[in-house]
Amino acid sequence: MDKTLNKTQSKTLERTPDRTADQKQGKTLRVEELYVHYQTPAGAVRAVEGVTFSLEKGERLGLVGESGSGKSTTVMALLRMIKPPGRIVGGRVLLDDTDLLALTDDEMRAARFARIALIPQGAMNSLNPVMRIKHQLMDTIHYHNAQIGDLQGHVRALLKSVGLEPSVAEAYPHELSGGMKQRVCIAMGISLMPDVILADEPTSALDVVVQRQIMETLGNVQEEIGASLILVGHDMGLMAQFVHRIGVMYAGRLVEVGPVDDIFEEPLHPYTQMLISSLPSLEGKGVFKGIPGITPSLLKPPPGCAFHPRCPKKMSQCDSVVPTLQEVRPGRWVSCHLY
Ligand SMILES: Nc1ncnc2c1ncn2[C@@H]1O[C@H](COP(=O)(O)OP(=O)(O)O)[C@@H](O)[C@H]1O
Ligand code: SF4
Ligand SMILES: [Mg+2]
Repeated sequence: MDKTLNKTQSKTLERTPDRTADQKQGKTLRVEELYVHYQTPAGAVRAVEGVTFSLEKGERLGLVGESGSGKSTTVMALLRMIKPPGRIVGGRVLLDDTDLLALTDDEMRAARFARIALIPQGAMNSLNPVMRIKHQLMDTIHYHNAQIGDLQGHVRALLKSVGLEPSVAEAYPHELSGGMKQRVCIAMGISLMPDVILADEPTSALDVVVQRQIMETLGNVQEEIGASLILVGHDMGLMAQFVHRIGVMYAGRLVEVGPVDDIFEEPLHPYTQMLISSLPSLEGKGVFKGIPGITPSLLKPPPGCAFHPRCPKKMSQCDSVVPTLQEVRPGRWVSCHLY
């Protein structure tokens, strides 16, 4: 990223005097016992059940798991963007010492983009088709009252930082390729230099080559602004290359969390083991296709360990006692009665 961006964005930085060298070592984000339910006529869909994890400054965490395991709901809950019939029913989301779930709506609005920003699933479709790119970027900044003097310069610098020409500022979304639109969405996500970037399957609609280029850009800008990043996805190859730690979700719960290399080398939870062994190539690269058995209903999850109907290592207590996530080795967290 060039100097212009740093210079124009230093104003944004000034608004967060709490950023100190010390805090860079500390935890940025701590999610504690997060619960999100969707109320449906048939009952509560328990989409997120007691999810707990933390994220260091600058760290990249990958969230993986089958479709419907609660990854997107978790991410949206961190931003407090869960829509009815969904509701956050418990937990804390601590960003340094601030509990985002305890903020007023106005305070939370101010925190979005400035402290925690989303690059949504299918982000490129979230651009306004009748607005020039520069106006969409400027709107985000205006809406959050960020004091940036040279707004045009800031927009140019943002575009440059994600590998786009300044001329893109004048374009309408339909004039851009999918990859370019996705880069615009990344620019929007970093426009106020958030502490945490959430990216929900940011490249799933793009072809593989463009995907890799965009992930590289995302990684570069994330490092440049010193943000932490949560990447939701199901491409394990991409995860292996991109993230530092992986969190595996199953039926609304985190079942394993650990450093990415350790998890690939020696997955501990039976679900993670099946997930890794189902990958098509020897190096563990490729898109996770799913494992045998039926994905559990979150309306009426199986009692005990939700994975027990599919688990080859099931024991007697597994269908009655819910396992808790525990640190079974330094840095390795697993929720399973085997440990
Ligand atoms: N608006 C909704 N109403 C009812 N259930 C929902 C709604 N949105 C999501 N869910 C349910 O919540 C669960 C988690 O979904 P989601 O977070 O989208 O999973 P993932 O991102 O891992 O695919 C799923 O069972 C899904 O069907
Ligand atoms: S708790 Fe039991 S059923 Fe669940 S993953 Fe562990 S061994 Fe399998
Ligand atoms: Mg999702």
